[in-house]
Amino acid sequence: MSGINYSEKIPNNVNLSEDRTLQRALEHWQPNYLSWWQDMGPDGSQNFDVYLRTAVSVDPQGWAQFGHVKMPDYRWGIFLNPGEADRKIHFGDHKGESVWQDVPGEYRANLRRISVTQGDTEPASVEQQRHLGLTAPSQYDLRNLFQVNVEEGRHLWAMVYLLHKYFGRDGREEAEALLERRSGQEDNPRILQAFNEATPDWLSFFMFTYFTDRDGKFQLCALAESSFDPLARTTKFMLTEEAHHMFVGESGVGRVITRTAQMMNELKTDDVAKLRAAGVIDLPTIQRYINFHFSVTIDLFGADESSNAATFYSTGLKGRYEEGKRTDDHVLKGQTYRVLEVRNGQLVEKEVPMLNALNEVLRDDYIRDSIAGIERWNKILEKAGISFRFKAPHKAFHRNIGALAGVKVNLEGQVISEAEWKARVDEWLPTAADRAFVASLMGRCVEPGKFANWIAPPVIGINRQPVDFEYVRFN
Ligand SMILES: [Fe+2]
Ligand SMILES: [Fe+2]
Repeated sequence: MSGINYSEKIPNNVNLSEDRTLQRALEHWQPNYLSWWQDMGPDGSQNFDVYLRTAVSVDPQGWAQFGHVKMPDYRWGIFLNPGEADRKIHFGDHKGESVWQDVPGEYRANLRRISVTQGDTEPASVEQQRHLGLTAPSQYDLRNLFQVNVEEGRHLWAMVYLLHKYFGRDGREEAEALLERRSGQEDNPRILQAFNEATPDWLSFFMFTYFTDRDGKFQLCALAESSFDPLARTTKFMLTEEAHHMFVGESGVGRVITRTAQMMNELKTDDVAKLRAAGVIDLPTIQRYINFHFSVTIDLFGADESSNAATFYSTGLKGRYEEGKRTDDHVLKGQTYRVLEVRNGQLVEKEVPMLNALNEVLRDDYIRDSIAGIERWNKILEKAGISFRFKAPHKAFHRNIGALAGVKVNLEGQVISEAEWKARVDEWLPTAADRAFVASLMGRCVEPGKFANWIAPPVIGINRQPVDFEYVRFN
């Protein structure tokens, strides 16, 4: 069952041809998807042949096949991880019962909402990134951008399949609406705010794939625990694709840092103006980008106290990150967790029922994981003999959701006045001048093996190809 049938119009490993109604509905959605891709997918890329990986099976080994593909001909399809025999629900009030192969009526609205919210992020990021191909720092990077884009498109397919198959007419309507909302559009924006922010330059792209695709990882991991088995199986396969997106982000930021460190050593300076004049991105600017993307992304986990989060968990719709590895009772009634609030002008912790704090639990898991990568970036500086260190901001910094929304907090977690915030925000978040400087470096550099001045080449190529491989044929 893990082989994928590519002879059908919609490649799949779900025996789509056995369900004619569903097949017809999805074949009806397909041209709408393609016209969305034409309008909102990577700008000017229609005629390129790109060295892409395509899923050929969902086995952990060897699911990917590499080859040059004209992007609009990429075979988007429906791939689910194989089902586990006798899988049991392992958390919440239904713990111990068999998982559901269909949507229980009482959970229909919530499961639909979960699928739509996840599905909406996928085309959103393609829209956010659609102009970046015009300023790619290398062919290697251009190829990685396109790989991420086609896979986000496939993730949309994954959620649309669930909506069509399990949610009837409402599901079909939601699937249409996923192609109608637009990132950043005022009258019909994407659902979550981080997916309405612009991704104007490649430093933002690398930050986005490091921080925001990692939010995707944590959300998908929580959904991979779901008692609704088709959701668990589809998100498990999405996770295997997500790993590459985060690699693109981590290695991309790492290569920017490597290049800046080289220049700092060459010029023996940490003077921002001199480094900018030399055409590299100074470390304080990179830090401000980190502060922005980190804070905007942790908002995606939602309010620190949420009765919805409790309901999603107790009813078995959405688990915790690595639910199966945890040693508690997986029901969590009577347990508590600490969240932050402001009391007398200070951040203080308070204990709340853990079930209500599950957004915060997932956010804290995410923070631990993303800080680990920041430490790996610091290793690059350490090796280069540079004393500057990157640091994640305090989790209350620059928040817009939950108890901390609107509270002004500095990078260290001290509550500050509006006036102090205004006076110092330019040290903490990218300024218009920072963004203009980064934008000024962006220029198309696409000869095989050539890299823009502000970024170091990768250590190895994709699929063990050489770094100067022709990853994109422009025709
Ligand atoms: Fe995705
Ligand atoms: Fe992703």
